[in-house]
Amino acid sequence: MPNALDPDLRHALAERLRYYKELGIYDFYRRDKVNAAQATAQSEEAAIAGDVETESSLTPQPELREEMPPRRSAVAAVIPEESMFEMLTPKPEQGVADRVAALKLIRADLGDCTRCKLHKQGRKQIVFGVGNPRAELMFVGEGPGADEDAQGEPFVGRAGQLLNNMIRAMGLSREDVYIANVVKCRPPGNRTPERDECDTCSPFLMRQIGVIKPKVVVALGAVAAKNLLAINAPMAELRGRFYDFVPAGVRSSDTSSQAEPWQGAKLAVTYHPAFLLRDPRQKGEAWKDLQMVMKYLGLKPPEKTE
Ligand code: URA
Repeated sequence: MPNALDPDLRHALAERLRYYKELGIYDFYRRDKVNAAQATAQSEEAAIAGDVETESSLTPQPELREEMPPRRSAVAAVIPEESMFEMLTPKPEQGVADRVAALKLIRADLGDCTRCKLHKQGRKQIVFGVGNPRAELMFVGEGPGADEDAQGEPFVGRAGQLLNNMIRAMGLSREDVYIANVVKCRPPGNRTPERDECDTCSPFLMRQIGVIKPKVVVALGAVAAKNLLAINAPMAELRGRFYDFVPAGVRSSDTSSQAEPWQGAKLAVTYHPAFLLRDPRQKGEAWKDLQMVMKYLGLKPPEKTE
């Protein structure tokens, strides 16, 4: 395997990857050399013809609502094997079995992040994530608000209080779960994080998920759902079913060992607690989503005490 890639080839590969990402294609498979040329031609054709997994084609069909195969792109981009290895730069946490240590390495890799414009738009600090590194259940929100930015912890404001109530209603405590956001810096004025900000930051979230290896990830709101699933669909279509979820860009060989095999999580989508504060009539719907998760995890609501 060559150590250094020709700069022009590296540039061309990076451009090609960005092009596929824009088409919503995140997964790449290695093919044997004989089929590679043919597959490349087919994938080019399909991409040009628009025959790729589009947002609307991902809308769950009624008969498929309960179980769907893992998110897979309809087009497998064929990349030379050596180049693929070259591009998959080893992450510091790879091979680190201790989850606390692995999360610390991801945090250290983030550093005092200046990768996107949020770092110069008034954020006080990076809000990395909090909770049990061995959590079976993980919640993912959109991005820190003012309270989170001040305290350095996700979901500590009003929406956080409601999230705590939701967690308690599931028979768990905040310490049992892990909570993180798609972006780790507060967007100014609590605006929705922009595409480039999510794209820059979400690889760190994916790596956190790869370390924690939850059984279930709950996406809180459309921003989290769309970023985790790479699907652009309305909440009404996103909710009400499980998705098979494997964190993008994280290899199964990095997350799975003989001692702790992990092939991914179930992902459920529910309303963001901030939305529920604005429209409490939807709390019943959110509770249905959480009950689906509880059933899967074998959780029972706590006994009522007088
Ligand atoms: N909203 C989010 O999406 N995340 C937080 O941490 C707080 C509010």
